[in-house]
Amino acid sequence: MEFKSLIQHRYSVREYKPDPIDPVVLQQVLEAARLAPTAANRQPFRLIVIHTEDKHEELNCNYARDWFVNAPIVICACGIPEQGWVREDGKSYIDVDIAIVMDHLSLAAAELGLGTCWIASFDVGAVREILNIPENVEPLIFMTLGYPADEIGEKERKPLSELINYDLWE
Ligand SMILES: Cc1cc2nc3c(=O)[nH]c(=O)nc-3n(C[C@H](O)[C@H](O)[C@H](O)COP(=O)(O)O)c2cc1C
Repeated sequence: MEFKSLIQHRYSVREYKPDPIDPVVLQQVLEAARLAPTAANRQPFRLIVIHTEDKHEELNCNYARDWFVNAPIVICACGIPEQGWVREDGKSYIDVDIAIVMDHLSLAAAELGLGTCWIASFDVGAVREILNIPENVEPLIFMTLGYPADEIGEKERKPLSELINYDLWE
């Protein structure tokens, strides 16, 4: 798909078909994540790929929406702060790194006809327990992955005039 068309067609999919994802297709999506740029090329992340079949009950403990567990795969993107690049003033760029990784993943998925949804509003404590995530690793975002059973709605976005300044903050 042409890039312009890809970014217009990607949307947050919140209803999934039960169809499984071919492992070759999954690899292509994960490869797109691997190629993402990260600050100082530190690649301070790990993705936990979860096949949801038989795990509905425990996964629903951290985000109680049917569509979340109906996606055949959910991915938990974790940051490893000690591996990430930190600016001189102490600002860690790990969240930015992971956002880029997951955006690559999401767009690659869309190109292959797969749907995704970012999920930030999950129970971190429950996730740590369910996925055995150690204290020095931060689960940052979940992403569902599966074939869409819903349709794209209207894209609600602010106009460019509200989002862009030229030369100076206005
Ligand atoms: C960082 C981030 C966190 C999000 N967390 C959630 C979430 O917890 N639950 C949810 O249903 N959608 C979540 N979303 C999806 C947004 O609501 C959605 O991307 C936005 O409304 C724009 O719609 P679109 O993705 O269909 O273009 C999240 C998106 C981002 C980028």
